[in-house]
Amino acid sequence: MTTVLVAGATGSLGSLIVARLLERGATVRALVRPSNADGGARLREVAAHPNLSLVVGDLTDGAGALVPHLAGVDVVVSAVQGGPEVIIDGQLELLRAAEAAGVHRMIPSDFSINLWGYDYGVNILSDLRRVFAAAFRNSAVARTSVAVGAFPEFFLGPFHEVLDPAAGTFAVWGDGTRKIDITTIPDTAAFTAAVALDPATAGRDIHVVGQQLTVLELRNEVEAASGHRWKLVRRGTLDDLQAEIVRRQFAATSPFQYVALQYQIGMYSGTASLTDVRNADYPDVTPTSVAQYLAGPGASHFEIQAGAQSTEDWPAAV
Ligand SMILES: NC(=O)c1ccc[n+]([C@@H]2O[C@H](COP(=O)([O-])OP(=O)(O)OC[C@H]3O[C@@H](n4cnc5c(N)ncnc54)[C@H](OP(=O)(O)O)[C@@H]3O)[C@@H](O)[C@H]2O)c1
Repeated sequence: MTTVLVAGATGSLGSLIVARLLERGATVRALVRPSNADGGARLREVAAHPNLSLVVGDLTDGAGALVPHLAGVDVVVSAVQGGPEVIIDGQLELLRAAEAAGVHRMIPSDFSINLWGYDYGVNILSDLRRVFAAAFRNSAVARTSVAVGAFPEFFLGPFHEVLDPAAGTFAVWGDGTRKIDITTIPDTAAFTAAVALDPATAGRDIHVVGQQLTVLELRNEVEAASGHRWKLVRRGTLDDLQAEIVRRQFAATSPFQYVALQYQIGMYSGTASLTDVRNADYPDVTPTSVAQYLAGPGASHFEIQAGAQSTEDWPAAV
């Protein structure tokens, strides 16, 4: 039986990875922080599973403190979230501990667009993941990365400024005719559990996807699911998008004021598109279509949130 340690196990993705691994018969060790020592709300459903154990620790505790948690572990899956102190420094401590414990493979917390089709500086969050990927070059632990494109839970939420329920608008940069990659968080977890238990993925970037469709097709799905029209707002060309990213970077007090646009320029230009989609390797994972997602939990994207402001007039510069 394969033993998997999941870091970030109390997170929205990590908790589902734990559940899917247990369903596949793995023995799972969930790394939880002291503030969530009982597993917290997200692990409650699986907390009593006989093949699950919780180990308490923080990546910032350092490799020495993490090594005992990794004894006998075959694969580490990291689904942590954070800035460089977590994605680079924290995961490096986890990798060093995995090396010391003789772990075979680690899936880092990527779960993103294709990380490799563009230069450094194009997407600051991809940069963190690429810096950490370099740490595997001289490591006995093999890296397996899982790329899925965008989570619709985020892409259709306020962070991306695509859908604006208060204004009734759907915004697009560029001509909107290139296919983009959309995978729900639950489907990402299902694929990741399958990849974690597949030793043939050692040393590879595995691309899997829920659905590929153009952003204009995505708008059609939104209209069909919501039952009403969403005014199409064309924000500008991809050159205009690049100019807007630079403008925001100069004024930004947080990377979150421009990083969503950095994802979009990669997706809309195709540089961040998934290339070698391996869904066929995991036939027991049936991903959710965008229509199914929007008919279920995704219907919440159509609701006007309290305090939401219309972004119809944004951005003034374009
Ligand atoms: N493709 C996309 O569109 C997309 C969108 C969003 C996220 N993602 C990616 O998906 C992955 C998971 O994100 P998520 O939304 O599931 O994150 P999340 O819900 O915020 O969960 C993050 C997890 O990391 C843990 N954590 C943070 N710092 C830690 C540390 N120093 N030591 C140990 N654990 C630590 C948290 O523990 P606590 O519960 O104790 O805080 C939590 O369990 C990330 O790689 C993220 O970038 C992708």
